[in-house]
Amino acid sequence: MADLSAQLIQWAKEYYLLDSPTVCDQRYDRAFRELQELEKQFPEFINHNSPTQRVGGGRLSSFGEIRHATPMLSLNNALDMDELNKFVVGTSEHEWVAEPKIDGLALSLYYVDGKLAYAATRGDGQVGEDVTHNAKTIQSIPIQLEGPMIPNRLEVRGEVFMRKSTLDRLNKQGGSDRKFANCRNAAAGTMRQLDSAKAMRRPLDFFAYSIAECSGLPKSIKTSPAAEYHYSALKFLKQIGFQVNEYSQVLTSKDMESYCEKLASVRDSLDYLVDGIVFKVNSLFSQAELGFVSRAPRWAIAYKFPSDTRETTLTAVDFQIGSSGVLCPVARLSPIAIGGVTVSNATLHNMEEIERLGLAIGDTVVVSRAADVIPKVSSVSARPENRTPILMPSVCPSCSSPVARMEGQVAYRCTGGSSCPAQAVALIKRFARRDIMDIDGLGERLVEQLYEADFIRRPSDLYYLCYHAVAELPGMGKKSAEKLKKGIQASRETTLDKVLAAQNIREVGRSACRELAKHFHNDLDAILAATQEQLLEVELFGPVMAELAYEAFRDPELIKEISRLRYGGMQWPEGSQPVPSSESTLSGEVWVLTGTFDSMTRSEAEARLAAKGCRVASSVSKNVTTLCAGAKAGSKLAKAEKLGVKVVDEGYLLSVLEA
Ligand code: IVH
Repeated sequence: MADLSAQLIQWAKEYYLLDSPTVCDQRYDRAFRELQELEKQFPEFINHNSPTQRVGGGRLSSFGEIRHATPMLSLNNALDMDELNKFVVGTSEHEWVAEPKIDGLALSLYYVDGKLAYAATRGDGQVGEDVTHNAKTIQSIPIQLEGPMIPNRLEVRGEVFMRKSTLDRLNKQGGSDRKFANCRNAAAGTMRQLDSAKAMRRPLDFFAYSIAECSGLPKSIKTSPAAEYHYSALKFLKQIGFQVNEYSQVLTSKDMESYCEKLASVRDSLDYLVDGIVFKVNSLFSQAELGFVSRAPRWAIAYKFPSDTRETTLTAVDFQIGSSGVLCPVARLSPIAIGGVTVSNATLHNMEEIERLGLAIGDTVVVSRAADVIPKVSSVSARPENRTPILMPSVCPSCSSPVARMEGQVAYRCTGGSSCPAQAVALIKRFARRDIMDIDGLGERLVEQLYEADFIRRPSDLYYLCYHAVAELPGMGKKSAEKLKKGIQASRETTLDKVLAAQNIREVGRSACRELAKHFHNDLDAILAATQEQLLEVELFGPVMAELAYEAFRDPELIKEISRLRYGGMQWPEGSQPVPSSESTLSGEVWVLTGTFDSMTRSEAEARLAAKGCRVASSVSKNVTTLCAGAKAGSKLAKAEKLGVKVVDEGYLLSVLEA
């Protein structure tokens, strides 16, 4: 049993982590079943870290709630050395522990008699979500604690994160044109997967950083390792099988600055995102004495690294065409290194953004890249004399159809429709995206290759591919073709909301499609036959969405495409409900939206936030918890910054809505 278990772990690692399986699925499955059989016969020999105990497999319909025994709080920030020094002087403490602040998400793990009983996210700090099924897929989270020092009850807190190398690999292989924006989003999205088999394909990691409860230690242990010093608690966690960050160390306040410098210098070479340093008082007695103020402890602070900015030259602006034909300007830059990566492109959103920045080709621009998000041109620092103005092309760079701007809209569109190659390719990439058909093995480059080879013109063509021919494509071969076939086969069984989302109907986003499917009880024919009035009754739908959806459902191309998908084997079995969208994950929060967003209208964003239980206010006040700033944000942003209201960008909004 031990041999089988070790073998299976090795094979799983090759498959999931290294992406280079050495055995076929059947062989893996046979060995897995053999181990299961043996475990049935000899339950006394079951190793709790055995692969059979790890995979949840089953799909949950939603997350349960877990109330934290002690609230999960957040940390106050110090944005520079001055703020850090002020905080330290205010405590009169001598001994501190410094730890990297990992950019992932907080997780609480609860062990009863050494066995993992449940895992919960932070949620609102009081009540979190039960994510035990996904936590069990994380190799660095022990399912059974080993050794002579196991307490009856233990609550460990720490950070779940995705390694940078894992993110790169997933983004390279994934079929998505909006890839995971960063490790944090990827980790959050993965932890909130209902299907743990899917979570397992997106390997995560865990660093333990504190003990929230430790009781009932064996009698032989006189003083609890978690009673006196934070640093001893970390050592104890390491001894019983947790991963603790290797840069954690004890220091005095005079060494804080040099620690910050040291960590800043190695930060980029680490395989995980570090967005700052947490300094904690080492003595747990002092911690208890200092206590908390509102939602943060007085015994700890997070020193945040400043976001990286560099100057470079704007050498050109290209226009990329999206799945609905919108032309999006992309800045081409003289390559510069920011935060350890070479940046040569940055998004410019739209022409209004270019006007706002007063940008022209040849300008020296300031480019910023905060915590691994997509680089952004934040301002112009020099305008040479011979600068070239940036003009929206009058014809599409891909198909030469005229480019037009719809009345009242910021966006310019190519009028070529599905005959425009760039639009068609973008639409197929969108179809394969994680939140739509989630086709494994269909990366962006492969979509382009299949299109160039004339194998596909529209998404439904994917279901009629000849894999012998696909295997012959340059760089493909039998193995990759087989992988693609599997990915496409798996996508045939789906839910109706995804089929609707795949149609890319303007203004009708992912959540609206979920509501459509729910409202019409998964009956596609009823949806296609619905009148505008009936569509207006659907949750989230306003008059514009109802009209655009009604028109789309009368488009013969859309009807044909859905038939082709059905003939190609796509099905949404009765009872396969869309993932619920109305979990109140934001209840108690008050958001304000300002500026314009690329991925949705403000009213859609408002409706989707409201569906998550959050109140959306129109002006900024002290009661506001979060301000989401899109392009062209103005006075509201300034006010929020003045009041110290948390400010987030569109990427964050999306991660919250789609998590
Ligand atoms: S200690 C009372 N240590 O940062 C709060 N937090 O706002 C105790 N984080 O969501 C938190 N690395 O998930 C602590 N080494 C570390 C951390 C860390 C990352 C996260 C944590 C929390 C946020 C604090």
